[in-house]
Amino acid sequence: MRRHSRRQRYKGYGGYMDIDIRILDVNHDLEAFKQIRIEAVQDTPSAFAESIAQVNSKSDGEFRHHLSDHGAGDFVLGAFHESVLIGVAGFYRDVPGKLRHKGHIWGVYVQPQYRRSGIARKLLQTLIDKTKALSGIKQITLTVVTTNGPAVALYESLAFRIYGTETDAIEVDGVFYNEYLMQRLLEYRNY
Ligand SMILES: CC(C)(COP(=O)(O)OP(=O)(O)OC[C@H]1O[C@@H](n2cnc3c(N)ncnc32)[C@H](O)[C@@H]1OP(=O)(O)O)[C@@H](O)C(=O)NCCC(=O)NCCS
Repeated sequence: MRRHSRRQRYKGYGGYMDIDIRILDVNHDLEAFKQIRIEAVQDTPSAFAESIAQVNSKSDGEFRHHLSDHGAGDFVLGAFHESVLIGVAGFYRDVPGKLRHKGHIWGVYVQPQYRRSGIARKLLQTLIDKTKALSGIKQITLTVVTTNGPAVALYESLAFRIYGTETDAIEVDGVFYNEYLMQRLLEYRNY
């Protein structure tokens, strides 16, 4: 089933472009999702937990798993330009009863030639809006390598705040990176 999409105009390098944002469909979008996920891990290895070897050897079933709802309201959003998938952002929710108020963002990526056009911001704003419609979700968390300035600035601009730092959170080819733990509350809280 094709899901409802939102079309908006964005200013890219070649002028204004139409971008559609919609939830990826496990049947129709599997191949495009595989390709962009492999590209993402190759483009920015420190931004994703999987290694290039791992993502390259994943089965279709494992990619399908990423695009499946699992009954918890999980989804992956895609940004499309002229029907080509150019950006993604994933959301999943904790399952155990005491943790069901928590959701998590994963796999945020925009192709290099489309960056700085507001596409990641739109993907994440749409993701946040969709999670607000899920009953009981009160917060969204994510992790980001501390030296990933563009991503940290993106998340801060969307009201995520840093609540901790994990030392040596990820190792890429013998180099260890620290990660910020970031959280966005969906309801106002007076700390
Ligand atoms: C991080 C990433 C998703 C941003 O995508 P994007 O579509 O270029 O981001 P947007 O154009 O929507 O930018 C939104 C905001 O993010 C921040 N930002 C994005 N790129 C930036 C950069 N290169 N330098 C500084 N701030 C940046 C800015 O605050 C920007 O708002 P502004 O344009 O009004 O200043 C993209 O650079 C990317 O895919 N990087 C590689 C993968 C990655 O690091 N993913 C994150 C994993 S946690």
